[in-house]
Amino acid sequence: MPYRTIIEPFRIHSVQEIAFPSDEEREAALRRAGYNLFGLHADEVIIDLLTDSGTGAMSDRQWAAMMVGDESYAGARSWYNFEKAVKRVFGFPYVVPTHQGRAAERILFGCTVKPGDIVPNNAHFDTTRANIEYLGGKAVDLPCAEAADPAAEEPFKGNMDVSALEKLLADQADKIPLAMMTVTNNTGGGQPVSMANIRAVAELSERFGKPFYLDACRFAENAWFIKLREDGYADVPVRRIAEEMFSYADGCTMSAKKDGLANIGGFLCTRDPSLAAREKDLLILTEGFPTYGGLAGRDLEAIAVGLDEVLDEDYLNYRSVSIAYVADHLHDAGVPVLRPAGGHAVYLDGGRFLPHVPALEYPGQSLAVELYRHAGIRGVEIGTVMAGRDPATGDERTARLELVRLAIPRRVYTQSHMDYVVEAVLEVFDRRDALRGYRITAEPPFLRHFSASFAPL
Ligand code: F0G
Repeated sequence: MPYRTIIEPFRIHSVQEIAFPSDEEREAALRRAGYNLFGLHADEVIIDLLTDSGTGAMSDRQWAAMMVGDESYAGARSWYNFEKAVKRVFGFPYVVPTHQGRAAERILFGCTVKPGDIVPNNAHFDTTRANIEYLGGKAVDLPCAEAADPAAEEPFKGNMDVSALEKLLADQADKIPLAMMTVTNNTGGGQPVSMANIRAVAELSERFGKPFYLDACRFAENAWFIKLREDGYADVPVRRIAEEMFSYADGCTMSAKKDGLANIGGFLCTRDPSLAAREKDLLILTEGFPTYGGLAGRDLEAIAVGLDEVLDEDYLNYRSVSIAYVADHLHDAGVPVLRPAGGHAVYLDGGRFLPHVPALEYPGQSLAVELYRHAGIRGVEIGTVMAGRDPATGDERTARLELVRLAIPRRVYTQSHMDYVVEAVLEVFDRRDALRGYRITAEPPFLRHFSASFAPL
């Protein structure tokens, strides 16, 4: 390497203005939004780390591809470009386009899950869980033991507990329509899954005759961590690593809003022709014809290019280094953050940040609100608010970890934006003892974190 500093491997070609709301304006916005950061106007936010989903910056190549989008209803050229790109990267013979990841989940589970079924995963994302529960199924998380310790510096804390899966399969095989694995493990801190673990779960699923699916939203970030951390992969191109990951699976769901580097889109893949046919029937009912699936031709073009760009190793290096930059600065200053740094986000450990706030007073929510109040930074609680209620009993489920996720959009913010974030978190940390909890004043029956209202205690 001729250089030591890892720089953004792009130049900025088009910019968007950031608003700077005053202290009074932020306080008023919080009150209006019921202390739920999803209720803020984006123009009230200075640095928006709510999600890395659909918030990335597209490249000049993607914008150029959009201009030649073919908007034909059936058989558009853009569909064939998209299908070719997905098959090249993912390797599955059947591709079903959807408008985003959760639509792919709804269609997959709609074709496979019935009431009483159980779907195991290393950790379900909230929409995955909700889609299974909506169909009367049970979404079971089987994280590996290392995941329980937020401070443990282990390389693959996204792994699944293989012996727990084996026990579940042995005890309740008749209730399990498929096994899933989320790469990287978003709910578990954006932590990667090793190739060995993917292989073990695939072999186990096969032994019990169960299809094995990847929730592939952040497959490229996962593949990059395998290259960096798993024996035998340092010299393997990341494209080959991704190919190998998918070679063990029977199919996948995908949100192109993450590692598709697009602002909208998703798809599901399978090797099973009869399942693909049923999925397409359902697709026509709710998303659209199977050669566009709820997307415009131009969106399909943007994803086709994005799937190529996301596997660029300079990009992936910059991506992981820039996230570790924030996580490591905070960690070195004594702020409790989930270790090691994840693939798409920095996770503050709200439970250890605010040990005086009990789970049912939502320490993660309190911290997320304070970061906005103090510096206009919008993150999201991934803790007891997001865990919601048990659909059977209606009781609140307290989360294992009370996290605040600061998700970093792809190719959007520079190092000085991140320096501002570090500074703001440190300032809030200095007066953490003064922060109080919240109570919920209104909540919907599921996915409550999006729309619940809160009041400070
Ligand atoms: N699976 C995972 C692991 C996800 O992180 C998401 C979305 C989905 C599925 C659903 O995809 O949004 O396209 O419908 N995660 C976003 C986030 C929303 O902020 O983490 P979608």
